[in-house]
Amino acid sequence: MSTTSIQQLLKQETLGKSDLVALLSADETQRKLLFERSAAVKQEYVGNKIYYRGLIEFSNLCGKNCLYCGIRAGNRNIRRYELTEEEVLAAARYAWENRFGSLVIQAGERSGAGFVKRIELLVRQIKALSKGELGITLSLGEQSEDTYRRWFDAGAHRYLLRIEVSNPELYHKYHPATRRHDYQARLNALYLLRKVGYQVGSGVMIGLPFQTVDDLADDLLFFREHDIDMVGMGPYIEHENTPMYRYKDQLLPRTERFYLSLKMVATLRILMKDINIAATTAMQAIDPMGREKSIRAGANIIMPNLTPSSYREDYLLYEDKPCTDEDAEECKRCLEARIHMAGGQIGYGEWGDSRHFASRKK
Ligand code: 5AD
Ligand code: SF4
Ligand code: FES
Repeated sequence: MSTTSIQQLLKQETLGKSDLVALLSADETQRKLLFERSAAVKQEYVGNKIYYRGLIEFSNLCGKNCLYCGIRAGNRNIRRYELTEEEVLAAARYAWENRFGSLVIQAGERSGAGFVKRIELLVRQIKALSKGELGITLSLGEQSEDTYRRWFDAGAHRYLLRIEVSNPELYHKYHPATRRHDYQARLNALYLLRKVGYQVGSGVMIGLPFQTVDDLADDLLFFREHDIDMVGMGPYIEHENTPMYRYKDQLLPRTERFYLSLKMVATLRILMKDINIAATTAMQAIDPMGREKSIRAGANIIMPNLTPSSYREDYLLYEDKPCTDEDAEECKRCLEARIHMAGGQIGYGEWGDSRHFASRKK
């Protein structure tokens, strides 16, 4: 598509599938126009505040075997861990004292009764120690409605569950054909979360083998169709100890995967103006300035890592994950500098809930 037509598209009120494909296919000159427009939309609808979600990688134990993921159950090459209650509460206290506003508790997917109970207790304890001030997001995979409700009643109010790829045919290429890796079940989990009352986040990986720009446009339409409140998405990055490593020579070069991801962020900001969009860590795994660039292109959420340093090497979902040699203090300082460099202002002590959620509740 010509540059003038891209300019026309960016002025349009509504965007259809072919428009999204054109924006995602923007060349180097055109993508600058796209990023200018998405920056303006961001400024107008969500402002330049960036909200923190302090990330606690609670455990790398996982019962699933997603074919791309470095902590899949089948990877025998890693040391498995679960943080102690003291470690989680110390991280939460740090977040509260440093006025992070919110936390994310993330882990591999497990559903045992003991696990469900421990999370419920931790949520209650974090709420208590922060006098209700810390907002809590969970990212713990597919669970039953009852489990989602228990965690919600304990005080968690947002949940992240990436659909990973919205096309059911493609989904099966990246997941084993077992009941535990069922597209419909995952989709249903998104409905359950919404029914229970969470602000619901989802997301996809970008630059997977076999995935086309057409599929990515469908991913964006999926978020809109399901009225998602928050999105976290980033480039797929190969990991040596996973089955999908065999496709490593068929992937887009990493820089292209990065720019495609950045175009996804920008296009999504234009498509769903008032949602929360994360500047994901995977962006920085490819480009040292990846998260700043995401903020400029439309992201408004960032997740400073709070996992105790001694465990960070064990939570490698993909290669070149940044921050593995740093601690909470270093990540905090580093991100402050990065956000200021990207023209953002940090929403200290604020939850920074999705405006989209607030308006759909009305
Ligand atoms: N590359 C990029 N992202 C990955 N994730 C898992 N493995 C990879 C990988 N190899 C993402 C998934 C998951 C999130 C926690 O991490 O999207 O939902
Ligand atoms: Fe487990 Fe999540 Fe990794 Fe899948 S992506 S193997 S569910 S941690
Ligand atoms: Fe962790 Fe920069 S954010 S070192």
